[in-house]
Amino acid sequence: MASSRVAFRPELFLSLQSSSSKRGGVVRSQRVSMASTIPSSKVENQKKPYKPPREVHVQVTHSMPPQKIEIFKSLEDWADDNILVHLKPVEKCWQPQDFLPDPSSEGFYEQVNELRERAKEIPDDYYVCLVGDMVTEEALPTYQTMLNTLDGVRDETGASLTSWATWTRAWTAEENRHGDLLNKYLYLCGRVDMKPIEKTIQYLIGSGMDPMTENSPYLGFIYTSFQERATFISHGNTARHAKEYGDVNLAQICGIIASDEKRHETAYTKIVEKLFEIDPDGTILAFADMMRKKISMPAHLMYDGQDDSLFQNFSSVAQRLGVYTAKDYANILEFLVDRWKVDQLTGLSGDSSKAQDYICTLAPRIRRLGERAHGKAKQASTKSFSWIHGREVQL
Ligand SMILES: [Fe+2]
Ligand SMILES: [Fe+2]
Repeated sequence: MASSRVAFRPELFLSLQSSSSKRGGVVRSQRVSMASTIPSSKVENQKKPYKPPREVHVQVTHSMPPQKIEIFKSLEDWADDNILVHLKPVEKCWQPQDFLPDPSSEGFYEQVNELRERAKEIPDDYYVCLVGDMVTEEALPTYQTMLNTLDGVRDETGASLTSWATWTRAWTAEENRHGDLLNKYLYLCGRVDMKPIEKTIQYLIGSGMDPMTENSPYLGFIYTSFQERATFISHGNTARHAKEYGDVNLAQICGIIASDEKRHETAYTKIVEKLFEIDPDGTILAFADMMRKKISMPAHLMYDGQDDSLFQNFSSVAQRLGVYTAKDYANILEFLVDRWKVDQLTGLSGDSSKAQDYICTLAPRIRRLGERAHGKAKQASTKSFSWIHGREVQL
């Protein structure tokens, strides 16, 4: 297959985002402003009634050798016994309503007022992080699509009974509660401007995402292992901060979401652990490949119709508040190296052994780069966010 690799860009670690500097550029559609001199193929494009607001240009597909699909078919029973057990039966799951004022109860208005009083104690920059997290969760259709791009594990019919497809649908159904709960909380709290937030969600789902997983379940499950842990950490941190601001209810909301993410992390890391057992060379190469490309955040194409650097600005606030930082990125990598006992793998081929060296020495290097960038960081600037009625927060 055509593999157009993008060079490793260490500076990308520092801002925790991907955006325009890699994979050939993420750009805003120029549809409206294009001149009449453009080639005819582009004129065709112009006639499209809708173009994604954020576009990714260099995309690699189907990089896994087709014979490896058999590995995933042969793991069907294993996944039944080892992965589906990490799903919770619906009857035992929490639902958003468990943590929100009950609209059918007499005390609804009072409960809403209490929620709003508590919200007044929380600063704007916290809400920027919470909105960014909510928008990320709300782009769930994109993530289900992403899982269904993966060769050998996709849901072929939409109701397929394979273990992989069963997992993906039930995982999506569990995840759906996250955006739902955060969205309803933010709607009630009175601290944010819902319309630009809703526009951000619509823009984001319209743009999709490019995790650079190339239809390969090796790359895909490494990505999801990393990402579930990243969300576990960030929701855990917003829970901790809410508690510090005295809002135990909001802490519970973020905490309960974090606990789902942890369970999902357990499942995805188990899949990759199994791949290391069956195909250590293929798996270590995939791990190194993902780390070289950097794990891009799922909402990296975020846009609200106004701010071209919305994702970077949101990431800066999250970094400053300690909700999700460059250090967390390095910690997750280290956690996964440890979880999969990468340093203990033996008998690897030449390239794989180089990949092993690369991975095992990467976390300290990322930390050093992060510290250096932190030292060089210019004086704090502020940025206005449409999500909070244009009020400014420090980046
Ligand atoms: Fe989630
Ligand atoms: Fe998740």
